[in-house]
Amino acid sequence: MKLLSGGANQALARAVARELAVELVDARVARFPDGEAEVVVDPDLRGQTAYLVQPTCPPVDAHLVELLMLADAVRRCGTETVVAVVPYLGYARQDRRTEPGQPVGIRVVGDVLHAAGIDRLVVVDPHTRDLEAIFSVAVEPATAVPLLAEALRGGLPDDAVVVAPDLGAIKLAQRYAALLDLPVALVRKTRLSGDEVRADHVVGDVAGRHPIVIDDMISTGGTIAAAVAVLREAGSTSDVTIAATHGVLTPEASKTLGELPIRRLLVTDTIPAPEDSDLELDVVSVAPLLADAIRRLEADRRLDDLEAFH
Ligand code: R5P
Repeated sequence: MKLLSGGANQALARAVARELAVELVDARVARFPDGEAEVVVDPDLRGQTAYLVQPTCPPVDAHLVELLMLADAVRRCGTETVVAVVPYLGYARQDRRTEPGQPVGIRVVGDVLHAAGIDRLVVVDPHTRDLEAIFSVAVEPATAVPLLAEALRGGLPDDAVVVAPDLGAIKLAQRYAALLDLPVALVRKTRLSGDEVRADHVVGDVAGRHPIVIDDMISTGGTIAAAVAVLREAGSTSDVTIAATHGVLTPEASKTLGELPIRRLLVTDTIPAPEDSDLELDVVSVAPLLADAIRRLEADRRLDDLEAFH
């Protein structure tokens, strides 16, 4: 097998390579003067399986195109199989049309991944589990929830409660709650626009309890902030623990989350931490999880019985 990295998260790709005790294949990912992606890989790949590590984190479109160029490059070198390891998959929130005139963004992404010659896709906690139905490419979904739950376990206050900040996060919250042996509560949220949400109701007992608000991703921080406000109104303790797989963390998130009484903020390294943020992040690495997934694919073993995949 051969492991290559795009430009999106080379630190993670290097960590996966260390876990697997392999060298990353030389790949140059740069930009032509007009901004087009320029990709050149070491062409010694004939008959191999190429694993391309490239989350499509911001700038999402640029990183997606780099992935497509890498896939085409390795395909032209005679690789047998191309596996895209995309721990954070952008556009997954656009899995349905909410008003006429919109595209189904994730469907378009699935089509271009397939067209670029990708055979298989490893993703971590994708926003939609419908990927398998939408994509022609075979999807291997992994989850970082057990890793994050393990990191949360030490030093949790008594009477904690796992909180889903919206209905879409309820299954995720139940997985955390089962691993941590805690109850679950749910916040009712309405999304008004890409960067505006309203939360107005809590289902479940949070009075006097320490909330652990979990989500698949934090982008602007609006969802978490709205949940924290309504939890306080419902009588939760004043400080809060937050855990999310993908710290997209737009510049706006630093300000929004910076104003919250955060006890701990956990994310994984599917996305590099923002360089210019004052947020104190506890970062849990998914490198062992991705390395395990690759080892299993190499050994033609199932992924769905891997503990970290449930
Ligand atoms: C939405 O359904 C997702 O699961 C997240 O809750 C959302 O994308 C987070 O975005 P933001 O931080 O901008 O509220």
